[in-house]
Amino acid sequence: MNREHVDVVLVGGGMITHDQILPSLYHLQRRGDVGALRICALNSPPLRALAEEPAFAEAFPGQSFQAFPAIDAPDDKVYPELYKEVIEDLAPRNLVVVAVPDHFHDPVIRFALEHDQHVLTVKPLVLNYSQAVEIEELAHGRGLFVGVEYHKRFDRRSLEARRQYRAGRLGRFQCGEAKLIEPYYYRHSNFQNWFTKENSDPFTYVGCHYVDLVYFITGLRPVEVAVRGVEGTFPNGNVGYLWSAGQVVWENGAILSVINGLGYPDEGAGTNDQGMCLYGEGENCGTIIKHNDQFRGCSYGYTDKNVGAAFRFINPDYFRLVPWQGEGLKPVGYGFDSIEASVQSANQVNAAGDDPAARQAMLREIDARGIVATPANSSINELVTEAVRLSIVRDGAPAVIEYGDDPQVCLRD
Ligand SMILES: NC(=O)c1ccc[n+]([C@@H]2O[C@H](COP(=O)([O-])OP(=O)(O)OC[C@H]3O[C@@H](n4cnc5c(N)ncnc54)[C@H](O)[C@@H]3O)[C@@H](O)[C@H]2O)c1
Repeated sequence: MNREHVDVVLVGGGMITHDQILPSLYHLQRRGDVGALRICALNSPPLRALAEEPAFAEAFPGQSFQAFPAIDAPDDKVYPELYKEVIEDLAPRNLVVVAVPDHFHDPVIRFALEHDQHVLTVKPLVLNYSQAVEIEELAHGRGLFVGVEYHKRFDRRSLEARRQYRAGRLGRFQCGEAKLIEPYYYRHSNFQNWFTKENSDPFTYVGCHYVDLVYFITGLRPVEVAVRGVEGTFPNGNVGYLWSAGQVVWENGAILSVINGLGYPDEGAGTNDQGMCLYGEGENCGTIIKHNDQFRGCSYGYTDKNVGAAFRFINPDYFRLVPWQGEGLKPVGYGFDSIEASVQSANQVNAAGDDPAARQAMLREIDARGIVATPANSSINELVTEAVRLSIVRDGAPAVIEYGDDPQVCLRD
């Protein structure tokens, strides 16, 4: 087998599928990197919304996907196991994209790997380190690629910071802060069904992005985490952590404060609030890496409120559908670059051929390059998530990560 494209089964038809994954896959399909496209969701309404999305008709004329269940299936009928049949029907070494709620990533990823499929999953890969190791071993043994969609790694500013930091021009990181506050209206969405205290919290959900970025830029590993949460009630009565404030200690002693939440004003210009500031030290000078990831120097006042408010900051760096030389519109930004890199990695692994050893050599190369997040090069994130979950239920008790042959997370004595 020596293919130049993968067929894709996308499991999950929610917000991230709509905003980033599907339009990216459509463009990759148009370019020939992706073949057939099937999407499986729990029930038909999200699939119908995707199929009938006017923005996709405008951007990708003539393109569509096969829906599971069918888009005219009854709204209230759920198909929790259907993804298995759809994956079983895929020939080996195609691609399963996992875009379901966090706690459901693990079974879908394993099922895909056990059926010889490459995987691209939205972050977080899984919620604990031992699951990440098992997934890495399962995938590597079969010569299969697993990519984790940490798209902030593909923001040009992150790539520039990584290059300059590793060249020594940005000193050694000492102390910093990061924030990512998602909009208040998330509380009214499907979040209220799964974003409960036992499943997740704001640090686990989005704080991980900046932990991953500090690691991506500096190469430093986190060694201690303490997080406090602020509880609140969703509109449906479920209780969750709606805000969090955490502190991460790095292996060189540096400290990062991280605040997260579901509470940015819905009509704020934002449309969320995010950014990072890392102070460091050179031989005889201070250094700084400061990224304003909310306001990128572009704001529009509209004649309407189609995007929820009449005035917005625009982030063309993340994801936009823009005019190009071809038909329709093309996706641009790090949201697209990230999906493209994983699809191309799966294609590269397939191009290495039928010999698993040749595919494993290619996988090691991808792991070592460290640009696309894989279980082998990003599992500090699972260690941090474990530490966060230990800490947050104990009102911020510090949890330590001990590295070694068998990394462990435990409460500090
Ligand atoms: N910045 C980021 O990287 C980013 C941003 C948003 C979401 N995410 C991640 O994406 C994932 C999904 O988030 P979302 O906001 O799209 O959630 P969502 O609640 O909008 O959508 C979840 C989707 O999963 C589907 N689903 C649930 N159970 C299923 C099953 N058994 N079979 C098939 N489909 C099933 C639902 O039908 C729904 O379409 C989460 O893990 C989240 O953390 C990442």
